[in-house]
Amino acid sequence: MNRIWRDEDISLEPLEGKVVVIAGYGIQGRAQALNLRDSGVKVLVGGRAEGQGIAAAAAEGFEALPTAEAARRADVVFLLTPDETHAEMIACALDGALREGAALGFACGFSMTFVRPHLPETIDVIMVSPKGPGKTLRERFLAGGGLPALMGVERDSTGTALKVALAYAKAIGCARLGVIESSFAEEAHTDLFGEQAVLCGGIPRLMEEGFRLLVEAGYSPESAYLECVWEAKAIVDLIFEEGIAGMYRHISPAARYGGLTRGSRVIDEAAREKMSAILDEIRSGEFAAELLRGGPVDPQAAVSRNLSDAWQRLRDALR
Ligand SMILES: NC(=O)c1ccc[n+]([C@@H]2O[C@H](COP(=O)([O-])OP(=O)(O)OC[C@H]3O[C@@H](n4cnc5c(N)ncnc54)[C@H](OP(=O)(O)O)[C@@H]3O)[C@@H](O)[C@H]2O)c1
Repeated sequence: MNRIWRDEDISLEPLEGKVVVIAGYGIQGRAQALNLRDSGVKVLVGGRAEGQGIAAAAAEGFEALPTAEAARRADVVFLLTPDETHAEMIACALDGALREGAALGFACGFSMTFVRPHLPETIDVIMVSPKGPGKTLRERFLAGGGLPALMGVERDSTGTALKVALAYAKAIGCARLGVIESSFAEEAHTDLFGEQAVLCGGIPRLMEEGFRLLVEAGYSPESAYLECVWEAKAIVDLIFEEGIAGMYRHISPAARYGGLTRGSRVIDEAAREKMSAILDEIRSGEFAAELLRGGPVDPQAAVSRNLSDAWQRLRDALR
């Protein structure tokens, strides 16, 4: 088992009197900057001179300035712009700006695993990757909770990289749940695989195909939606609280028997092989190269019209 750190194991002292620059005031940047400030850390926000991030950060009371200027004053810089911008940020805005002994932080292992930009030998390179959206990170922090995070140290030129990474994770609220020892590569591989095969690929496709099949067989979209989409949350909540076996204890005998005898017909050996091929594409860097080459796919075009319409209608009706 990888080590898990919690609030009581971690000191904020490595960040005391230090300047943390949040480069990028978007989904993660805003949440992390606000949580850090509420934890008593001195935060500067870096961004594009003409960008919305700088203006939004200034409106929320941060000193906000062009990234290169901010980074020259930093002890720690967290690069919280989209992954595909990191190489250019490092080559341009951060080039020559990071002083000796500073730490450069990432919220995701993607760039250091697949792009491997050249970085000065004299800096620390760390990762604190909260497992969830920035909005949730902020909301939970305000409510006294947090999100778990994977933490990694890629380069420790000062001998203090681990303590700085842990202090950062504590300051954004992740150690209230748990900061899990990991690595950039493990985070990058498992994050992409989870998204593709399970969370954002497998589950939505299962829902959509289940819905489509029932509607094409003559059942109402309302019934199909309730059975294949709406009830999913209750089942996931049960799995989250009590595990898969625990979930089976809380459902009807028919649901339990049907699920246990039919589930492995849907996710069978052929599906396992396809999942394995997806993992191979991730580990070899093939997926990352494809992502960096290609543009985003339009989500609306990828989801069946029937499902979107039923979703909209039922979501409004069942509120
Ligand atoms: N989204 C999440 O909840 C989440 C969860 C875990 C980890 N992460 C990781 O967190 C990091 C940030 O992701 P995010 O989703 O928070 O990003 P995001 O919201 O899309 O980032 C927006 C910020 O990036 C800046 N930006 C966009 N394109 C830029 C460019 N070409 N050059 C310079 N700045 C640019 C924007 O600047 P302007 O204001 O100037 O437009 C804005 O401040 C990524 O490494 C991601 O993998 C994200």
